[in-house]
Amino acid sequence: MKKQKIIIDTDPGYDDALAIMLAEKSRLFDILAITTVAGNSTIQNTTNNARFVLNLIESKTKLWSGANAPLKRKLIKANVHGKNGLDGATINKEEKLTNNAVNKIIENIINNPNEVTILMLGPLTNIAQAFVKEPSIIPLIKEIIIMGGAINVPGNKNRVAEFNIFVDPDAADIVFQADIKKTLIPLDVCNNIFFTLIDFRRLNDSNLYEIIYEMMKKYIDNIYMFEKIRGAIMYDPVAAYYLINSQAFATVEMDIQIETRGKLTRGMTVVDKRVGEGKNKNVSVVQSVDKEKFKEDFFNILNS
Ligand code: BDR
Ligand code: CA
Repeated sequence: MKKQKIIIDTDPGYDDALAIMLAEKSRLFDILAITTVAGNSTIQNTTNNARFVLNLIESKTKLWSGANAPLKRKLIKANVHGKNGLDGATINKEEKLTNNAVNKIIENIINNPNEVTILMLGPLTNIAQAFVKEPSIIPLIKEIIIMGGAINVPGNKNRVAEFNIFVDPDAADIVFQADIKKTLIPLDVCNNIFFTLIDFRRLNDSNLYEIIYEMMKKYIDNIYMFEKIRGAIMYDPVAAYYLINSQAFATVEMDIQIETRGKLTRGMTVVDKRVGEGKNKNVSVVQSVDKEKFKEDFFNILNS
């Protein structure tokens, strides 16, 4: 069977690292490229970390670096991924930055019209830049899967906004306004899917066990410090899992726009819930996922 072509745009980050491993080790995809963006950490760190993950799983997937800052704002990094974005792993190699993620995204879409799904695991800066530079690619993209947004739950960066949308709301605004099939995996779902160190012992026969265990120890401590949840929240792996098994998810169509300016609400995913309004349904929002199936598949794939 022909494999689904995908591009993964990412800012590793512990959960990004696991999402990349999940997508790669599932062997279900033809991964055309992994593109990095500044988000959880600086572009240098997220790119070093992406290379580290690819090396760990002996992947030859192409890696290109992208935006070093949001479209119009200063980068605000995450708290939960430590100083280099992947604390707990020894990363002392500096990956050369190629700065061509946007061009590579455009090139891959043009060369594979209507065949490429893009998995967005960080701020939406690279893809927004690609849309601005080459709008003709918009109708050529098969689908965009976005980990981001907070619909009926508090934000994890301010009162209402989720980190990926908060960091670059201007980019998110461009993407949400683009006429393209989008699926959003919001905090509402991801907040409830976390693994403990005991769960990760299921990997103890894998050569990835020690390194994942070390990273998850730090991630879990940090999550507890900032989110008061005792577990490694699987934000980005759940988004990757949507590509692996969309049957395990329930979605609802919504009309969502992004708040780019609010003093308290920057990056809010604003849903039009008014009766008789909300006619411009522009995104499928994941409402629930079969948690047990996710967990079983996650550990089976990582163990494979
Ligand atoms: C998102 O923010 C990042 O810290 C994670 O990697 C994830 O993509 C969750 O809000
Ligand atoms: Ca991420």
